[in-house]
Amino acid sequence: GRVCLAYSGGLDTSTILKYLINDGYTVVCMLGNVGQEEDWAEVERKALALGAEKMVIVDLQKEFIEQVVFRAIQCNAIYEDRYLLGTSLARPVIARAQVRVAQENNCDILSHGCTGKGNDQVRFELAWKALAPSVKIFAPWRDPDFIAKFQGRNDLLAYAKENNIPVSSTPKAPWSMDENVVHCSYEAGILEDPDHTPPDELWKMTISPMQAPDKPYHFTIDFEKGIPVKVTTEDKKEVTEAVELFKLLNKIGHDNGVGRIDIVENRFTNLKSRGCYDTPGLTIARLAHLDLEGLVMDARVRELRDQFVTTSWSRQLYNGMYFSPEREFIENSILHSQEVVNGKVRMMAYKGNVYVIGRSSETSNLYSEDDASMDSLDTFTPQDSTGFININAMRLKKYGEARIAQGKP
Ligand code: ARG
Ligand code: SIN
Repeated sequence: GRVCLAYSGGLDTSTILKYLINDGYTVVCMLGNVGQEEDWAEVERKALALGAEKMVIVDLQKEFIEQVVFRAIQCNAIYEDRYLLGTSLARPVIARAQVRVAQENNCDILSHGCTGKGNDQVRFELAWKALAPSVKIFAPWRDPDFIAKFQGRNDLLAYAKENNIPVSSTPKAPWSMDENVVHCSYEAGILEDPDHTPPDELWKMTISPMQAPDKPYHFTIDFEKGIPVKVTTEDKKEVTEAVELFKLLNKIGHDNGVGRIDIVENRFTNLKSRGCYDTPGLTIARLAHLDLEGLVMDARVRELRDQFVTTSWSRQLYNGMYFSPEREFIENSILHSQEVVNGKVRMMAYKGNVYVIGRSSETSNLYSEDDASMDSLDTFTPQDSTGFININAMRLKKYGEARIAQGKP
């Protein structure tokens, strides 16, 4: 058989690669570039040295940002009120690229190194089954023969020694990471104790708010249809290309310590799991977008969107249901809701926080200074509010009478 393996160059996937080859499979390795820091040439060299037929590295940054991250910004995506979904957002794009690589290289089996307890196995495999319904899947960490052979890290190290798998001399961080242009995640290892505070050197994408400059950094984000289309820096530099723009927001967030969270979340597999995430650019973009919606979005559309669209899309992404009819359905509402979200948000990052200091829109007529002004009665008849209050009070007066009859304070 021919296997297409998601290969990172680490000890786990190197072991899986060698194990498959020793079992008689031909392996094509695939690695998606979603903006992580990586020595790409070294990963390729390693895969080929271990006997992979081919190492395919695909730059997915643009499709990741434009097709998924911008959707997340447009619907203010968030999971359990805190997690901005950094890993979940990248999975569909990586899974789709892997199907592409498998098809181009006549592989009939897809494989990954995800654990049997996590969300990622679900995300990859649901995406693969949706995109290539007849695909076969080898999930080593759920395979009885594989897990019998590799019960702990020492088994992996012994196998590496026997099979000339190079093990990096720099000691592995005592936690697991998943990095892309949106975030870096840190889980497992010493973080499994939810009361163990992450050491400061853990965070890759943000400096500590305590180390951040004592001076605020000012910048502006322009939105069109809910998508950030331009960032203007303090020294009036303008960036418009999607990936560059997002990386600039990351840098602003990084330098000012914006976007660190440390949470316990509920996995789709029903385990509770502790995770730390630094998400500088998306934290900034999400706040700016939410703020602009306050200015330009219809109140009832917003209410429905908050109740159904944000929660559905976020849940679909978390649970690996990106390639699904429900995600397509919800995404149409997102796009519709964003037709009016045009304008500029002026912001300031300062010591671990980001603030909105002004917003404007040239296309929206919903906010009116005249209507809202406390100094003018031109467009509003205050007497109308008397009836408005009386009608709303009808029900509340009956409730009040009943309370008084029951002697409630
Ligand atoms: N808990 C997060 C999520 O489910 C992060 C997962 C990180 N994945 C990884 N392979 N390290 O989205
Ligand atoms: C893994 O299990 O491989 C990482 C964590 C997760 O997917 O939730």
